[in-house]
Amino acid sequence: MQDITTGRIIIVGAGLGALYAALCLAPRPVVLISPDTLGSGASSAWAQGGVAAAMAQADSPEAHALDTIAAGAGTVEARVAATVTEEARAHILALTDFGTAFDRSADGGYVMSREAAHSFARVVRVQGDQAGAEIMRALIERVRDTPSIQVLEGVLARGLDSDGTKVTGVEIELARPEGSAPVMLRGAGVLLAGGGSGGLYALTTNPARIRGQVIGMAARAGALIADAEFVQFHPTAIDCGEDPAPLATEALRGAGAHLINREGARFMADVHPLAELAPRDIVARAIFAQTQAGLRPMLDTRAALGAAVMTDYPAVAAACARNGIDPVAQPIPVAAAAHYHMGGVATDAQGRSSLAGLWVCGEASSTGLHGANRLASNGLLEALVFARRAAQDMLEECSAGDSDAVTLPDLDAGETPDEALVTQLRQTMTSHVGVLRDAAGLQCALATIAQIEAMQPNCAQLQNMTATATLIAAAALARRESRGAHCRIDYPETLDEAARSFLTLAEAAAFR
Ligand code: SIN
Repeated sequence: MQDITTGRIIIVGAGLGALYAALCLAPRPVVLISPDTLGSGASSAWAQGGVAAAMAQADSPEAHALDTIAAGAGTVEARVAATVTEEARAHILALTDFGTAFDRSADGGYVMSREAAHSFARVVRVQGDQAGAEIMRALIERVRDTPSIQVLEGVLARGLDSDGTKVTGVEIELARPEGSAPVMLRGAGVLLAGGGSGGLYALTTNPARIRGQVIGMAARAGALIADAEFVQFHPTAIDCGEDPAPLATEALRGAGAHLINREGARFMADVHPLAELAPRDIVARAIFAQTQAGLRPMLDTRAALGAAVMTDYPAVAAACARNGIDPVAQPIPVAAAAHYHMGGVATDAQGRSSLAGLWVCGEASSTGLHGANRLASNGLLEALVFARRAAQDMLEECSAGDSDAVTLPDLDAGETPDEALVTQLRQTMTSHVGVLRDAAGLQCALATIAQIEAMQPNCAQLQNMTATATLIAAAALARRESRGAHCRIDYPETLDEAARSFLTLAEAAAFR
């Protein structure tokens, strides 16, 4: 395999964490690896609600931290929650400086949405459901204007060079249908910020590229993975047959929309005192139960929003229009879909992984902020906080070298994952490692994942996906309780003692 060495810091990913880290590192030269043109393919641009931050006078970082801890079902690291919520305001101001047009009131304050399990309207927003798209627009513009950032678009990271203790390079290939031969890119340090795992499931709100590859490549390199079993299902993906499923933001429920079923019953009122604004895991399980019972859950925005849903929530309106749904006249059919992975590469307060030379931020990481159930709109916030922290640490730790731009050679075709195997993997995860789990289903999933893995042993992309799938299923099998988003029908109780989980890929594979 051809080796290319650069003095630049290598950033894998093109979402919020990756772009913000590149900007925080400037003028230190970086090369940013993105499989798609910037702006497409990353989950961040699809985030609808916004960024949680205690910006209101009556609110405080302490209240935000307490809500984060309460939603997380016992496994949030209190120290991490305190740090992240304390730093939130500074990042909203930094995004504003970068040109993000957050919604502002007549007096210049930030307009905030209410979302589930927040004790205040605390989510800084853009036009109802455009926060992710607008933040990414502003950052992409800034990245393109920053000379120290080289963006390699159409290039996919597929592995890490590691001796099990230290990462020294990133194996890359061309992101084209036929793949390409790999090249080893060696730099001053590696930051992984390539997203989570939602697309490992057949029903997901995540872009098609987001299938656990980044967590998988870190795990295959020997990194410790935390809380892999905690996968968050969003209660209100629009159930219209699209893959990925479009989101109907939780802010709609914050604005008063109700969940009803085909019989017109408002079922959340019987499930939790907060009804539609109960923590996300509880609403997701209730939606799943309605779907399983054939009761067709729906989000009814008619009374709360009327025609305003079309103007105030443009992404939801567009998804409905594409699918022949008129939310002004009819409720929107919804389903629980894989949305966010609380688990990921275990990282410390500086975004360092267990491997020297490897930092991780964003959804690919597991910092301890989210516990077993992420509080809505804390995902973008966590990406911001740890992108900056990782960048500051890398500036100190990574020796400076030459800053010449990286040039890739022409490359022959390579091996890409067999689509039938990917489909089987996704169906297996949804059927057996989904909203409800039990030992028999998880064992069946682990066996199927192993068979899929054996079908294409030299396809790095598929091996990355099966590595993450193995970690999720094994951690779910090992956790003999129900907690937050992890619900075992054979172990429905929550243990008194709450603990995070930590697994290597070798330990996870031993469960098969
Ligand atoms: C939403 O807008 O409902 C999603 C927000 C989030 O996942 O944090």
